[in-house]
Amino acid sequence: MKLMEQIWESARKDIKKIVLPEGNEERTLVAAQKIREEGLADVILVGAIDEIKAKASSLGVNLEGIEIEDPSTSKVFEKYAEEFYELRKNKGMTLEKAKKIVRDPLYFGTMMVKMDDADGMVSGAVHTTGDLLRPGLQIIKTAPGVSVVSSFFIMVVPGSKYGEEGMLLFSDCAVNPNPTSDQLAAIAIATADTAKKLCKVEPKVAMLSFSTMGSADHESVDKVRLATEKTKELRPDLLIDGEMQLDAAIVEKVANQKAPNSEVAGKANVLVFPDLQSGNIGYKLVQRFANAEAIGPVCQGFAKPINDLSRGCSSDDIVNVVALTAVQAQK
Ligand code: ACO
Repeated sequence: MKLMEQIWESARKDIKKIVLPEGNEERTLVAAQKIREEGLADVILVGAIDEIKAKASSLGVNLEGIEIEDPSTSKVFEKYAEEFYELRKNKGMTLEKAKKIVRDPLYFGTMMVKMDDADGMVSGAVHTTGDLLRPGLQIIKTAPGVSVVSSFFIMVVPGSKYGEEGMLLFSDCAVNPNPTSDQLAAIAIATADTAKKLCKVEPKVAMLSFSTMGSADHESVDKVRLATEKTKELRPDLLIDGEMQLDAAIVEKVANQKAPNSEVAGKANVLVFPDLQSGNIGYKLVQRFANAEAIGPVCQGFAKPINDLSRGCSSDDIVNVVALTAVQAQK
């Protein structure tokens, strides 16, 4: 069974409530109907009720069974604003400012998740990644024992033999501009756990660099080396190795030459990039040149799941990210 089919099947087993704060956006409306028809999640749209209804009707979208919450008329607005003020008052927040901020659909949607009125949130068809992450980082925060929120892409490369028959996880390609070695270790661990739980594969994690096992020296290589050591220390149960170049990570022949003693080299299915520049450029190169499907960015490390979309996403992409988010929300 294909990965996305597995995720849809898992989502249907324990239906979760997912809030879509870009409620009057066309692809989101089309996706909302499909999510309901496919039984993947219960959907809440955020926005002005009349506007959403008019847009849905012009698109031929049936809103039956889909909840709509308008922050400006919602009964829970005051409660959310007060709670947001409580959460941020030590950062200089005032109640007056909180009331303005929580009117923003992204903040309102994030508060719905925080207050357990929704199990997860998906946004980003219109807003940027930073727009989604900021309320998430301020309100939802990290899960217990997790130091950093990061993200991964599931890359599916047609006809490729690399990774798990062409499927690999790439991280972090969307959140942390310049992670420290500690943060890089946390990203590696989170992505390995995600590979196991969500993709049902045994993770083999390569810590990528422009150096393989000491072939070059630079402070940026030291960071990856240190992160590899820390990850091994923290999680001796994981198959992780580095620092290594991309070809040594995925091509057996190169691995035999450059890293003959590594259990990961040549077989890696999780690629951890040293920083956001390389990660973001890397996933887009594979997506465009290899015609790969790039599922994500999916966030990991939040106390409750919230996920981003690409602004170029299709309604089918929204359906898939909602299904993924619903599965993340399951215990
Ligand atoms: N994990 C956990 N907490 C974090 C993280 C993190 N990765 N990053 C920031 N925080 C916390 C901070 O400690 C702070 O907490 P506090 O306010 O309670 O003290 C809060 O989040 C806000 O932090 P700031 O540093 O003020 O937030 P900033 O404005 O720098 O935004 C953000 C953080 C949005 C993640 C920023 O780093 C960013 O823009 N990252 C890149 C996003 C991006 O553009 N990605 C590329 C495009 S995506 C694509 O192509 C698919």
